[in-house]
Amino acid sequence: MIKKSRLGPEALLFPTPSVLVGTMVEGRANFMTAAWCGIASSKPPAISVAVRGERHTLKGILANGEFSINVPSVAMVAEVDFCGIYSGRKVDKSTVFELFSGDLAYAPLVSACPLNLECRLRHTLDLGGHTLVVGEVIQTHITEDCMTDGRPDAVKIDPLVYSPGSGNYQRLEKSSPKRSPSAKRKTRVRNERLQAGAGSVRSPT
Ligand SMILES: Cc1cc2nc3c(=O)[nH]c(=O)nc-3n(C[C@H](O)[C@H](O)[C@H](O)COP(=O)(O)O)c2cc1C
Repeated sequence: MIKKSRLGPEALLFPTPSVLVGTMVEGRANFMTAAWCGIASSKPPAISVAVRGERHTLKGILANGEFSINVPSVAMVAEVDFCGIYSGRKVDKSTVFELFSGDLAYAPLVSACPLNLECRLRHTLDLGGHTLVVGEVIQTHITEDCMTDGRPDAVKIDPLVYSPGSGNYQRLEKSSPKRSPSAKRKTRVRNERLQAGAGSVRSPT
């Protein structure tokens, strides 16, 4: 019999990503570290992020209806930590990163992050302490060195992940070899269709 401890109600999942949410607030770029971020939908492609009511970031998202999700690599831990400690209300975070422009005017993008998503605000849900923000992904940028066979490679991206329970940052290890051959074949076919520019590719989820 496996012994279990009751922790009471906790929002615990392992691991979570740690991303930089980019916004424009009062004409200035701002970046907030967020670990409560996930994929919300594949069609349309959408990302959700839970943002506490007092964050400077929420002000920018609600004012402009746009934001970016920047996926940092492990090498960026110091900057990620900085953006997770200091609020744009008190500190100018607009010069922490070199930025580049995408399709949206109010979704500042971090060059050093291997993956960048430009999002247009579609939904907000007030959950009490946090507001769940859902953004449709309008454009995706990836550093070319972080791809294998034309598709994003998580090991090359080397994303900084986060463990909510311990509060530690962690790193992904190399992928597990245990996926079934039929699941791998489905992914390969899907990737080939994506690379060929097929309009409607069914997502695995
Ligand atoms: C690893 C980590 C993860 C965090 N995740 C979130 C999150 O998901 N949602 C949130 O509202 N704040 C989160 N924070 C806290 C904000 O990043 C922090 O309060 C930041 O200073 C807010 O910046 P802003 O006021 O400029 O938006 C996190 C902080 C760290 C260090």
